[in-house]
Amino acid sequence: MAFALNNLELTAGEFADWQQLLEEKTGISFEKHRLILQTGLNQRMREIGCQDYRTYFRRVQNGNSGALEWESLLRTLTIKETRFFRDPDAFDTVKSYLFDKLTEGKRDVSEDTPIDIWSVACSTGEEAYSLAMIANDCIEGLKLDRRFGVTATDICISSLMRARKGHYNAQKAKHIESSMLSRYFNASSNDAFTVGSTLKARTCFVQTNIIEPTLYPKGMMDIIYCQNLLIYFKPWRQQQVLNDLVSQLKPNGLLVLGSGEATGWQHMQMKRLQSKGANAFIKRVS
Ligand SMILES: C[S@@+](CC[C@H](N)C(=O)[O-])C[C@H]1O[C@@H](n2cnc3c(N)ncnc32)[C@H](O)[C@@H]1O
Repeated sequence: MAFALNNLELTAGEFADWQQLLEEKTGISFEKHRLILQTGLNQRMREIGCQDYRTYFRRVQNGNSGALEWESLLRTLTIKETRFFRDPDAFDTVKSYLFDKLTEGKRDVSEDTPIDIWSVACSTGEEAYSLAMIANDCIEGLKLDRRFGVTATDICISSLMRARKGHYNAQKAKHIESSMLSRYFNASSNDAFTVGSTLKARTCFVQTNIIEPTLYPKGMMDIIYCQNLLIYFKPWRQQQVLNDLVSQLKPNGLLVLGSGEATGWQHMQMKRLQSKGANAFIKRVS
């Protein structure tokens, strides 16, 4: 008999258990996305030949092998959609923030202090490399010799591996201005492009679970760019993550969220930036 998991329905109890486990371990809430969860679980269970949800539930929690299987499940369940310069208004905000900081904003940093940028849920790297291109353009345009680094994090190891490779097809490259494409990428076969050494030297990709602040990158950030992650979290979790991100931001630092994300969020230390179309905040100095 053919092994047909395609239509295996999650019972109410199984759905509740899976939802709770995923919410506790990743922050992602599948409450309103039962079908996505069911399809993802089915896909992974088919790949490994596991025939029921309960067995698989135990399996992902079983020691080291469970931890490995958990990584594979995340590869299936996480939404990886991203693109270069995805939110033009937000990237314009980063550009003008950097320009101001580099030209007049020497109140709080000496000239040789590096600029630290964090791409929080970087997926396959397009967001991190976009930030690096903007920072490099800005520094070179002003003929400055300022160091900067982009730390890019994600919970999903397979996405991080693709990000590190920095290999993108022509469809992806369409979103990069041609002058940037020629300066920062090497054309390879089949109309594909690979990130060149300038950007590679400035970016590092690290696995981080955003709901575990102890795993955050070390050091305070000038810019935290966090888009299209919080939408998957419950409101209380969004608030908690945002408060943790504020603690990681330098005074006068910039926090950029996705437009429409965490709209009601307020924080004593953060001032909303009046910036065209962008959902951004500056950290008050004291
Ligand atoms: C839709 S992508 C967003 C990519 C990029 N920020 C953008 O806006 O184009 C969401 C990413 O969040 C990551 N993610 C989900 N839960 C996470 C968590 N708890 N910690 C870190 N990253 C997480 C997923 O793996 C996925 O790569």
